[in-house]
Amino acid sequence: MDYFHYKGDEAYCEEVPLRSIYESYGSPTYVYSLATLKRHCERLFDAFSSYRTMLCFAVKANSSIAYLKEVFSSGYGADVVSVGELERSLKAGIDPKKIVFSGVGKRAEEMTRAMKLGIYSFNVESAFELDLLAEISSSLNCSVNICLRVNPDIDAKTNPKITTGLDATKFGMRLAQIEPLLPIIRDHKQLNLVGVACHIGSQMIDMEPLKNAASFMVRMAGDLVQSGFPIKLINMGGGLGIKYRDEVPPSLDEYANVLLNAIRPTGLQLVIEPGRVVAGNTGVLLSSVIGVKSTESKNFIILDGSMTEFMRPAFYNSYHDIEPVKSDLSGNGTEIFDFVGPVCESSDVLGLDRSLHRPQAGDLFYIRGCGAYGASMASNYNSRVRPCEVMVDGSTIDVIKEREALEDLWRLERF
Ligand code: LLP
Repeated sequence: MDYFHYKGDEAYCEEVPLRSIYESYGSPTYVYSLATLKRHCERLFDAFSSYRTMLCFAVKANSSIAYLKEVFSSGYGADVVSVGELERSLKAGIDPKKIVFSGVGKRAEEMTRAMKLGIYSFNVESAFELDLLAEISSSLNCSVNICLRVNPDIDAKTNPKITTGLDATKFGMRLAQIEPLLPIIRDHKQLNLVGVACHIGSQMIDMEPLKNAASFMVRMAGDLVQSGFPIKLINMGGGLGIKYRDEVPPSLDEYANVLLNAIRPTGLQLVIEPGRVVAGNTGVLLSSVIGVKSTESKNFIILDGSMTEFMRPAFYNSYHDIEPVKSDLSGNGTEIFDFVGPVCESSDVLGLDRSLHRPQAGDLFYIRGCGAYGASMASNYNSRVRPCEVMVDGSTIDVIKEREALEDLWRLERF
């Protein structure tokens, strides 16, 4: 459920016509709906309200500071994977005690900064990370909470590029790799092993793998408790899928039940790191047509938005609805078009084989489902400036990130 809708034949975000955003701020522009974001934050909270659960937003999904402010003010903590995400979260007003630090290769200076802030926990993903954490915590004389990130070798049944819980992926550690670390942890007085963590993949629709992963984690936590470690939490990562096209994801309650049925009997705290389910449908990418052209086999609509603003279709072959801002572009007499951007790559696609009336230069479209892994994955490839981002709240529009200027492209260069 979101607040992007039509009034008559004009597309709106809440009370604001998308056309007026284009007129004030140009395109391509990310448009977020605050009402949608608040609703998603609340609904997910509610689904877990019957049990001690800490919800840490996966900052990688949308890391714009004004956006994060809204998420954190709804009571969420943060799952960060770099010092950049950590500092952004602090700027957005997070309490460091609500930060979990994941990531497969944390650098010493990142660990040091997080440790000095007293974050909630580090998800340790390898033996070398444990060594480094031990060394830094000793030299700072600072005790630190750690969770061991496990790779349970469970197939999340999602796109291979966002599968993270298989033995062939770089994430976490297998049990055999963890066992020899336990004596080291036990002997190190600054390292507190407080939990176990996993994240088996993203955009999961089938809950069976998550259920299996939860059972695995419960067994592992139980074994650690038996061995005398004061385990107090199980972190199940993020990963709940959303509907982009014809997926039928579980309801939030069904998702919560899968996790809570497994975790509740342990009495341990549950931590989750949701990203997409919170942010995905809170945003669209508004884009205008530069021109339309045809080859013998294809018709192309060339938008001013591209893979540099929104990488998902190019990178994951992902499907996103693309809607006209003025809806009378669809109807009888349609043709089949590919929506593409101006970037010099054949992979620069935004939508393939879409049926619509032939548009004209200047017509506006908006791409749905861009609130997660949209702006946060934007790049400057082809020396394109990164887009403007606006947050709509009822009938007001706040620019939360200005469009980059050309000068920003070479601001750090020396020549
Ligand atoms: N926790 C960890 C440790 C993660 O690696 C991720 C996502 C999450 C939580 C949040 O997962 P979510 O709830 O959003 O599924 N760029 C890709 C998605 C990459 C996800 C990476 N890790 C995409 O656009 O589909």
